[in-house]
Amino acid sequence: MNRPASAKILGTGMFVPERVMTNEDFARIVDTNDEWIVQRTGMKERHIAELGQASSDLAVEACRRAIENAAVTPEDIDLVICATITADNVLPSTACWIQDRLGCKNAGAFDLTAACSGHLYALSQARATILSGQARTVLVVSTECLSKITDYSDRNTCVLFGDGAGAAVVQASDTPDTGIIYTTLYADGSGGELMLLPGGGSRRPPSHETVDARQHYMQIRGREVFKFAVLKMEELIDECLKECGLQTSQVQLVIPHQVNTRIIDAATSRMGFPPEKVFLNIHKYGNTGGASVAIAHDEARRQGLLGPGDVAVLIAFGGGLTWAGAVIKH
Ligand code: ACO
Repeated sequence: MNRPASAKILGTGMFVPERVMTNEDFARIVDTNDEWIVQRTGMKERHIAELGQASSDLAVEACRRAIENAAVTPEDIDLVICATITADNVLPSTACWIQDRLGCKNAGAFDLTAACSGHLYALSQARATILSGQARTVLVVSTECLSKITDYSDRNTCVLFGDGAGAAVVQASDTPDTGIIYTTLYADGSGGELMLLPGGGSRRPPSHETVDARQHYMQIRGREVFKFAVLKMEELIDECLKECGLQTSQVQLVIPHQVNTRIIDAATSRMGFPPEKVFLNIHKYGNTGGASVAIAHDEARRQGLLGPGDVAVLIAFGGGLTWAGAVIKH
């Protein structure tokens, strides 16, 4: 069995639906305003899927762009990993819909659930699978239609979320010390209630009662999540730097989960990163869950912010609770 020296990101892509919802749009449906949302979250707009548009529809477009950017063919893909909490269906997996529509005839496919940490969990699995010699080329896609599980009568949560997908083609390389050089994953299920979608699973199957009680929407305890998020983002950056023997000055870009500018600012500034080294697109997309880091990474690459040899630290946290980090040498 051929075990490669590294797992490199060959290409990335992203896709968001056309329809945009602005802060002013929210002010028309709940008691909120542009000033509150911008000051407390940094968000201005989010893209929202149409009624019949599902997570796989966004994912397929993002994957096509990543495959083109990587200059590979669908037949080259050995494995499709889809990170999502808004699967098209409970059965089959969204990864299988994607595999079929892209024509990845030689690939296995599975879904992975780690909420907003999903993309980094998936990149970690892609890297491990490649380094073990089980696959040569892995397509990672993180896709969410969070609008479908958002309660638009709850001002505390509805302004936060948007829809979108981001993808990366990861491939075996014989060059050491390049590509995804480090990943780290954590979970603490005791905090599961902090971000919860109570209805629709095997605990509370769908029924008239679960619908009437609005249990098919996310319930978030934002204030408690806030402190946890700042702490974990800080710890993740610290660990990534230490484990890879990096100084702050050797990192070109921190790419955080686009959850809230105040959380991101607090964690990155405490770790000594100036704002110009922290990638932000939260004003355009809001929080797109697992897709957030994937979209941000693709945009940073396309904006030319990550040249050959540049190091990026990707960090995320989310429901579960889960949190995860990755260091990528471009
Ligand atoms: N417009 C106006 N006022 C609002 C809105 C709104 N959209 N939402 C809440 N408020 C009010 C609250 O009702 C509260 O009023 P009260 O004091 O009269 O009760 C007041 O604003 C302050 O509420 P807080 O919850 O203290 O506001 P905070 O500054 O913590 O910001 C936020 C809330 C944005 C949710 C923040 O806590 C946050 O970003 N938390 C972490 C992120 C998070 O949980 N994201 C979602 C899930 S994470 C993931 O990625 C899966």
